[in-house]
Amino acid sequence: MSYNIALNFEDGVTRFVECGGHESVVDAAYRQGINIPMDCREGACSTCKCRVESGEYLLGDYIEDALSQDEADRGYALACQMRPKTDCVVLVSSSSAACSTKQEIFTTSITEVRRLSDSTFALELQGEGLKSLNFLPGQYANLDVPGEGGHHRSYSFSSMGAADGRARFLIRNVPGGLMSGYLKERAQVGATLTMTGPYGSFYLRKLERPVLMLAGGTGLAPFLAMLDKLASVGGLAHPTHLIYGVNTDRDIVEQDALDDFANRLPNFTYSIVVVDANSEQPKKGYVTHHITPEHLNEGNVDIYLCGPPPMVEAVAQHLRDVDVKSVSFHFEKFNASIS
Ligand code: FES
Repeated sequence: MSYNIALNFEDGVTRFVECGGHESVVDAAYRQGINIPMDCREGACSTCKCRVESGEYLLGDYIEDALSQDEADRGYALACQMRPKTDCVVLVSSSSAACSTKQEIFTTSITEVRRLSDSTFALELQGEGLKSLNFLPGQYANLDVPGEGGHHRSYSFSSMGAADGRARFLIRNVPGGLMSGYLKERAQVGATLTMTGPYGSFYLRKLERPVLMLAGGTGLAPFLAMLDKLASVGGLAHPTHLIYGVNTDRDIVEQDALDDFANRLPNFTYSIVVVDANSEQPKKGYVTHHITPEHLNEGNVDIYLCGPPPMVEAVAQHLRDVDVKSVSFHFEKFNASIS
């Protein structure tokens, strides 16, 4: 029996390794070309200490000097001793470069580029290498902008079909933006595009309590990937509500996909909030105007937010104003003026 271990490095790079049930995470990583820092390999020095964010595992043999009971209770483990019992997400306190991890580069071709609205493109890429790409739903990739001297832009996956090797993204149309200009004027089906990744610490953690998802504009993309994953593993054990904020009715995209998730996931609900006072949507204003006490569940909630920096700050301020400290608050800021 072997398990999939996501190693998240402190520079935001993620690599997946396959680890046998009787194999240590350090050995599995080393076998696959990743050198997690270690000294003794015997559970004595603590050099390989990591934090296990999700999954079940055996701690193995070690001395208290290397790992205290308090640390073990808080999810820390020694990678040279840890044996997985399920798939795990492990935070490695070291950069990917320090672990000799090579950057994963994928050569892909465009299979679809579509204007979903004035403000949003859908881009689909396909590549043989993508069939083996693992990512944590919510993470992003860097896409080189063809013909722009190696400049790249970062986009969250909106879905990733390993079977057909297709990665999909939502891309904001920014006037004068490098990628926007490329997609508008030059991109064609079949054109080559280089992708690296996956990256990022914004990803769906284990569902242990109600979840509030807050999306601003194309910040919807990572939530589509998360919901896709949840639908594929059989649903949601806790209520999950998504508030999707846009500027105008014309900016609303992927509503069919959200309706589909709401049908397939009984615990999932969503609402759309539009800034424009003339919107036909019933909820107007900013996302923070429509966060209710029920959504916050007296703080027993995990909050995920993907949107521009002012939205992140507004939500953080709102939580302070209503005096609610959520169990966790994960966010991904993107610069809405660069694309
Ligand atoms: Fe020393 Fe793991 S390498 S405790």
